[in-house]
Amino acid sequence: VTETQIRPETLADCDETAALHVLAWQVGYRGMLPGEVLDNLDVRDWAAGRRERLSLPGPQTRLVAVRGGVIAGFVQFGPKRGEVDRTQFDEQIGEIYAIYVHPEFWGTGVAGELLRTALESLPQQEVQLWMLEANERGRRFYARYGLHPDGARDVFQPRGSDFEAPDIRLSIRRDEQHGQQ
Ligand SMILES: CC(C)(COP(=O)(O)OP(=O)(O)OC[C@H]1O[C@@H](n2cnc3c(N)ncnc32)[C@H](O)[C@@H]1OP(=O)(O)O)[C@@H](O)C(=O)NCCC(=O)NCCS
Repeated sequence: VTETQIRPETLADCDETAALHVLAWQVGYRGMLPGEVLDNLDVRDWAAGRRERLSLPGPQTRLVAVRGGVIAGFVQFGPKRGEVDRTQFDEQIGEIYAIYVHPEFWGTGVAGELLRTALESLPQQEVQLWMLEANERGRRFYARYGLHPDGARDVFQPRGSDFEAPDIRLSIRRDEQHGQQ
């Protein structure tokens, strides 16, 4: 059995989580987002952004999964972000904002451990997340945990690019007993 430790992300983790995030984009979104966008992602920028967001107050939870001393993945979740003002929250609905696993750890179960932890931690009956429509691997992964396309659609535009990728929302509704003893 492989031991995974799941714990809050710290400022000292941000270089490693940013590198993992960029690599997971480059491998996972190849063919879904322009190669030029993927090849120009800047780990140092992303690390600086992570440190900034980690230091802000707010209802978001940011967890990392550590295996053998290495950060294998991370998940960010909390109440649903406002569609217009992303700093306003709807406490009635939970949202997984991001889940990324280092490609070396794909297929090892880390992703499931992170997603289960997020789903168990969110008190809301309904949980949503946004995903690129072309992300077949993601879709099959989420389907195993009961998250399915709910019909809501948007477009995702990578920063600094005019490329638009179709984005779809997945959601799950749990029963009233969820989270209660
Ligand atoms: C999405 C992600 C977190 C899932 O973690 P993972 O370890 O790859 O997940 P698993 O391997 O447990 O499950 C992936 C599913 O895709 C299948 N799969 C494996 N390789 C695949 C491929 N090349 N293409 C499509 N599906 C594939 C797996 O078999 C599994 O489905 P199954 O159980 O029906 O067989 C991870 O791949 C990742 O970080 N991807 C890049 C970032 C991303 O897409 N994040 C989600 C954004 S919303």
